[in-house]
Amino acid sequence: MTSKTSENECFVYITLPGQTDFVTAGKFVLAKDRRGNPTGKFVYGKSYLESDNPVAIDPLELKLANKTYETNLLKGVFGALRDSSPDYWGRRVIEKRSGQTELGEIDYLLHSPDDRAGALGFGRNMEPPAPRRKFNQTMQLQRLQELADAIIADEDIPDEPDAEQAQDLMFGGTSMGGARPKAVVEDDNALWIAKFNRPDDKWNDARVEHAMMMLARDCGIHMADSRVITIGDRDVLMVKRFDREHTKAGYRRGRMLSALTLLRADDDPMRRENWSYISLVEELRRISSQPKKDAPELFRRMVFNALISNIDDHPRNHAVVAMDTEWKLSPAYDLTPSTPISTEHRDLALECGDMKRFANAENLLTQCKRFYLEPDDARNIIDQMEAIVGDNWYAVARREEVTEKDCETISTAFNYPGFRLAAVA
Ligand SMILES: Nc1ncnc2c1ncn2[C@@H]1O[C@H](COP(=O)(O)OP(=O)(O)OP(=O)(O)O)[C@@H](O)[C@H]1O
Ligand SMILES: [Mg+2]
Repeated sequence: MTSKTSENECFVYITLPGQTDFVTAGKFVLAKDRRGNPTGKFVYGKSYLESDNPVAIDPLELKLANKTYETNLLKGVFGALRDSSPDYWGRRVIEKRSGQTELGEIDYLLHSPDDRAGALGFGRNMEPPAPRRKFNQTMQLQRLQELADAIIADEDIPDEPDAEQAQDLMFGGTSMGGARPKAVVEDDNALWIAKFNRPDDKWNDARVEHAMMMLARDCGIHMADSRVITIGDRDVLMVKRFDREHTKAGYRRGRMLSALTLLRADDDPMRRENWSYISLVEELRRISSQPKKDAPELFRRMVFNALISNIDDHPRNHAVVAMDTEWKLSPAYDLTPSTPISTEHRDLALECGDMKRFANAENLLTQCKRFYLEPDDARNIIDQMEAIVGDNWYAVARREEVTEKDCETISTAFNYPGFRLAAVA
């Protein structure tokens, strides 16, 4: 490998299990095929393959081997790399900062700061950069919220003496995925994702999402830690990152792959043929070091999403993580209720049974064996979770300070009638 890359290439760095520094794992090239479609190529570096205990970036698709991998999916960006790239929100911040809107996929990889999800880093030099040691702090949240508001309103960052500093502040915490405004902050020797409310939200999202995380925990689901911080009159949801671990030497980083990558699926909802919990559980059973635990856990998450009408359960809202050499289902995150008009039929984002995406108890049972659950056990889980959600959602929401008005607004999300409707295939 040459030591510098050209425009459509970059080096891929990785933090190995137990380490806090990057090493160079390989090189990614994004080109066009003969028909003009973007094609990505990836090769592991020879010295990486020959080093002590290298790990695969994606153990299913990019196995450790001396070969050139190619993909046409996801605009030519291998899922494992795309998972490290910002989504709608981070891209907006990068565009704002650079003043450009026509950035390429490699630009988004290179422009985003190294607080991105997972263990990878990207750069033009073969030599990896030193890991970042300084992060935004909780006390900067107010300023971050103001900057997020300005970006949402599409305003320029105020032309004040510290405008540049302000941009650095916002930029230094944007590369996580997702559409909501967010920033990464350090607090108490851990990294947290701060999710900001938007002025046009239908309810206090921070409080409601936190309450859903608490309710999911009551349903036996393994959740990321969360809490709500109030800054001035605004609530901010803080979700503790499960892909970082503080050590004296810095942060250890876990590898992370989204379900979109595991499913080899496209992110366009119009091309969602592979979006399926049933396929996902098959992939999970292949990659997980604890499939007997993770498969029933995924079943619970699917049931929970149906019970709270979380129809935004798209494949980037599920992930597997490897803090060491073993892959596991990550803690659950991004659980939001919705209140569609139909009370008879609601669809999840992923297929969840023989009746496609229908969020319905009978449908959820149809493939339960793939989740290592016998029908009786699966039925019991559904019954128990249904009772917990039905009986507790309101008390949990009020305890977590969701207002009476917001509770009323979200009330039709829970145990909607179609969940128990006798299903017709
Ligand atoms: N606790 C966590 N630890 C590590 N990574 C996380 C955690 N929570 C979320 N992520 C990563 O950050 C991304 C964005 O988070 P999240 O899904 O909560 O944001 P969002 O903006 O609400 O997303 P969406 O666009 O789905 O509404 C996720 O897709 C996942 O890759
Ligand atoms: Mg999300």
